[in-house]
Amino acid sequence: KEEPLILGIETSCDETGVGIVRGQTLLADAVASSVEEHARFGGVVPEVASRAHLEAMVPTIRRACETAGIRPTDVDAVAVTSGPGLAGALLVGVAAAKGLALSLDKPIYGVNHLAAHVAVDTLEHGDLPKGCVAMLVSGGHSSLLSVENITDGVVPMGSTIDDAAGEAFDKVARVLGLPFPGGPWIDKAAQDGDRLYVTFPRGLTSQRDLERHRFDFSFSGLKTAVARWVEARRRDGEDVPVNHVAAAFQEAVCDVLTRKAIDACKDRGFEHLLIGGGVAANSRLRAMAEERAAAAGITVRVPRPGLCTDNGAMVAALGSELVRAGRTPSPLDLPADSSMPI
Ligand code: KG4
Ligand code: ZN
Repeated sequence: KEEPLILGIETSCDETGVGIVRGQTLLADAVASSVEEHARFGGVVPEVASRAHLEAMVPTIRRACETAGIRPTDVDAVAVTSGPGLAGALLVGVAAAKGLALSLDKPIYGVNHLAAHVAVDTLEHGDLPKGCVAMLVSGGHSSLLSVENITDGVVPMGSTIDDAAGEAFDKVARVLGLPFPGGPWIDKAAQDGDRLYVTFPRGLTSQRDLERHRFDFSFSGLKTAVARWVEARRRDGEDVPVNHVAAAFQEAVCDVLTRKAIDACKDRGFEHLLIGGGVAANSRLRAMAEERAAAAGITVRVPRPGLCTDNGAMVAALGSELVRAGRTPSPLDLPADSSMPI
């Protein structure tokens, strides 16, 4: 018997994503991004994002179906991100998914965005390990999650108490005069930089902080420290060594992320660490995680960069796991929940 065909819709932030999977096989992953419309504001503008989703939704569904070589009527179930995310943006995706499910007379599955970031790994590496820690690092989140069985959801272990990791990359890039979104530019600039040129602070790593925030992150102090350092240089009329600052900043972020992620695996007794979210594309983060995990007997799983950022495939992947596990679908009056608990 053929595996079920799932169409997934993602609109929690600025990416309109429509993915199609059969079982754990990815057939299409169409993404329309409004990132360029937000670039001149230096961050995502919710109202602009909602409008962009509305315009992109139907063309993106069409494009995904064409790529997968299917007709919408072939779909067995529709999955959609119902939260957390931007309220207006989520509403567009949820409304589209309901319309599709209703017109096709097929079940709908509302899924958690963070759980979907974890589930996407099945498209690359097959079944998830029996237990793993997932570290999700993007412009919107920085979380450590404990995952026993993805169809039961994910359990939060810690998260950022201020800025998300990607947000820190974007803000520091701005200070350094690099374009938005800044993560990839910092990654690139850092390739030719000396990561030991200056030592920036590692948030929430002191013995005292660890007692209360063992698995939490804080990046706002780091961002301020970089900004102060750069300002002082400029005030003295000296050039700012962008490559070195980028490398030293990146080193501080990756050091804290990997340290806490591996500590979380040890705490849970899990031998697998999964990394997702846009920042998972960072070359230094990948290298450092591999190195430190290997030393601790832990295996790192990172989906390819295109699957780490927000997309519809991850939603379809989680929908597929739910269908395959025989889970009950969501009601058709499923709400969008911008502050959905994990
Ligand atoms: O997952 P994503 O596409 O969207 C959400 O924020 O949910 O993540 C985008 C974030 C941005 O902050 C971007 O600067 C960061 O991921 N990013 C990176 C890299 N590529 C993307 N940060 C560091 N290094 C990278 N190579
Ligand atoms: Zn995300």
